[in-house]
Amino acid sequence: MNFTYDFTVKDVSDAYNGAVGILWEVLMGEHIHIGGEKETQRLADKLGVISGSYILDICSALGGPARFLAKNYNASVLGVDITQTMLDKATARTQEAELQDKVEFRMGNALDLPVKSNSIDIVWGQDAWCYITDKSKLIQEAVRVCKPGGKIGFTDWILGTNPLSKEEADTLYEFMIFPNLETVDGYKVLLERNNCQVLEIENLQDDFTSHMQYYHAKIKEIKDTVIEEFGEELYKIAEGGIKAWKEAAEHKKVTRGLWIAEKPKGR
Ligand SMILES: C[S@@+](CC[C@H](N)C(=O)[O-])C[C@H]1O[C@@H](n2cnc3c(N)ncnc32)[C@H](O)[C@@H]1O
Repeated sequence: MNFTYDFTVKDVSDAYNGAVGILWEVLMGEHIHIGGEKETQRLADKLGVISGSYILDICSALGGPARFLAKNYNASVLGVDITQTMLDKATARTQEAELQDKVEFRMGNALDLPVKSNSIDIVWGQDAWCYITDKSKLIQEAVRVCKPGGKIGFTDWILGTNPLSKEEADTLYEFMIFPNLETVDGYKVLLERNNCQVLEIENLQDDFTSHMQYYHAKIKEIKDTVIEEFGEELYKIAEGGIKAWKEAAEHKKVTRGLWIAEKPKGR
């Protein structure tokens, strides 16, 4: 069963303007997704990123992946994000790394991308599209901006093969501020509905579960630092929330997937 919660884009950007972005960076590093740099490289290789590729990262956050793609693949990257603090940090770190000629960030909503149609070689997303209220419109936008013959590749947190109860969903979605979650097949259907050819799908259940176990152990390990920086209340919420996600992952009720698709040439 799928669940829907009334979280708006403002709820998400308020959270990322505040402690949420900092806390996730403490746990995950500046690639704010499961697996860090290694996963960015894996997705880039699957998508065939080459020197000169023009990549759009939808929900680019701190821009860790954008800079990695520019530095290691000589790609040009445009990051779009809705949170001002994330854009400011991403821009400052990019200047510090002297990558501003290759990497640009724009304020924008994934549901109305400030990007021209048919202009992007590779549309990219990592562990962030779970925040988007309307997944159907999101995929439509991703396909709109992609060049004919270009690729769309992303990872995302999704529902697993075993069902969540309403009570479990309340805890998990509310902790993460997720308005809804897709499934492995759900994204496939949305991509195909937009005439894309789905080239590859992965259900990364074991990897997701072991990372959740790692993040739960890590937050307990750095408890004192977290309390000092964010207070006891936030520590309790974060530890409890990550524990709930870890347990749901262990029961295959939530997982993470990867999709690679191609927009047809003639479109
Ligand atoms: C988990 S972080 C993304 C991490 C990033 N993809 C990475 O791998 O480093 C989630 C980001 O999504 C952004 N976001 C959420 N909803 C959005 C929307 N509707 N449009 C644009 N950005 C959004 C948030 O501001 C936040 O920076």
